[in-house]
Amino acid sequence: MMSQKAAKTWGLRLLPFLLFFITFVTYYYSYTILQSSAGTSKPLNKSLCGGFQAKKNWESLNLNISRRTKLFLKMDDFFWREHMSKLPLPYGIKGSEMMLLKVLAVTNQHMPANIENLECRTCVIVGNGFVVKNSSLGSLINKYDVVIRLNDAPVRGYEDDVGNKTTMRFFYPESAYYNPEIQNDPDTLMVLVPFKMQDLRWLKEILYNEKRVRKGFWKPPPQIWLGDTSKIRVLDPHFLYQTADKLLQISHQKGKIPVHPTTGILAVFVALNYCDVVHIAGFGYPSSKKLHHPIHYYGYATMKTMMQNSYHDVNNEAKALKRLEDSGAILYLHPHL
Ligand SMILES: *[C@@H]1O[C@H](CO)[C@@H](O)[C@H](O)[C@H]1NC(C)=O
Ligand SMILES: *[C@@H]1O[C@H](CO)[C@@H](O)[C@H](O)[C@H]1NC(C)=O
Ligand SMILES: *[C@@H]1O[C@H](CO)[C@@H](O)[C@H](O)[C@H]1NC(C)=O
Ligand SMILES: *[C@@H]1O[C@H](CO)[C@@H](O)[C@H](O)[C@H]1NC(C)=O
Repeated sequence: MMSQKAAKTWGLRLLPFLLFFITFVTYYYSYTILQSSAGTSKPLNKSLCGGFQAKKNWESLNLNISRRTKLFLKMDDFFWREHMSKLPLPYGIKGSEMMLLKVLAVTNQHMPANIENLECRTCVIVGNGFVVKNSSLGSLINKYDVVIRLNDAPVRGYEDDVGNKTTMRFFYPESAYYNPEIQNDPDTLMVLVPFKMQDLRWLKEILYNEKRVRKGFWKPPPQIWLGDTSKIRVLDPHFLYQTADKLLQISHQKGKIPVHPTTGILAVFVALNYCDVVHIAGFGYPSSKKLHHPIHYYGYATMKTMMQNSYHDVNNEAKALKRLEDSGAILYLHPHL
C-alpha cells in the first residue's frame, strides 16, 4: 500500500496536470459557447457566467478583488473614505481634493441601471493592438453587456474587427478626442483616469468653461471638448493603485522615473472587479525586434514609437495577463503569442 507521504507527493506532482486540465476544459468550454454565438444574431450565451469561471480558481492570485465595487469617485467618498487621501494621484486623491470636489459637484457618479442591475455582467475589453486587424470579431464584441475601449481608439471604419458598441471609454486628457461623439455611442460613459492633478484641472476647466491652462501635459490635450458632460465619470484611483500593487507588483523606487500601469491593464483589473465574465481582444505587442511593425489596428504607430515611452513596463504587463489567462480569470477572443 502507498504510504500517506507517497500519496501526498504524488498528489503534488499531479497538481500541475490537474490545473492544466481544468484550464484546458475552461477554455474549450468557453470557446465552444462563444463560437456558437459569433457571427449570428443570437445574444451571448449566459451560461458563460456559470461553469468554471464562477469557481474563481484565480482567487489564489491574491488580487484583492471585491465584486460589485463602485467604480467611480463620488462626493460621499470624501467624507467616509480616509484611506484614499494618503497618496497623491495617480494612486490616491491627496492634494487634489478641492479640484475633485469642483469636478464632482457638476458630474454624475453612477453606473446606468441597465448595467448595474444585471445578474451576470459579461464584459469585453478591446485593446488597441494590431492583432485584432482582420479578426472579424466585431459582431461578437457587440454582444457583451459591457464593451470597454481605451483612449482615442477609433471605431468608425473598423466595425468588422472591433464592433461599434462602446459602454465605457477609459481616457486621460492627452488621449482625449475633441469630439467623443464621433467614435462613441450617445450613451457611452467617458471615464477619466486621473494620472495627475492637471488631468482634473483640464476637466474642471472644460466643465466650468474656464480659461485653459496648457502647462503640465506630455502632449497638448484638446482645448475644446464637445462631448456630453453628463456622461463623464472619474475612475476611483483605488483601482490604479491595486493594479500597480497587486497585479503588477510595481515597486516604487525613489529617484527613478515612475512606471505606471497602462490604461489597458487597468481596464482589465477594473473589469475583474466589476464583471462576471472578462474577455479581452487586441492586447499584446508584436515581437519587439520588428521596429517598424505597426502596433495598433489603426494609424501608423510602430514598435519604435512605443519603445520611446518609458512610463510603462509592457513586459511586466504581458506576464500579468499571462498569469490571469492561465488561471482562467480572463479569456482572449483571438489566438495570440
Ligand atoms: C448555451 O450553451 C449551453 C452549453 O453549451 C447550451 O446547453 C445552451 O443551450 C446554450 N443556450 C443558448 C441560449 O444558446
Ligand atoms: C483591498 O481592497 C479594499 C477596498 O476594496 C481596501 O480597503 C483594502 O485596503 C485592500 N487590501 C489590501 C491588502 O490592499
Ligand atoms: C487584412 O485584409 C486586407 C484585405 O483582405 C489585406 O489587404 C491586409 O493585408 C490584411 N491585413 C492583415 C494584417 O492581415
Ligand atoms: C452598430 O451598427 C449596427 C449595424 O450597422 C447598427 O444597427 C447599430 O445601431 C450600431 N450601433 C451603434 C451603437 O453605433
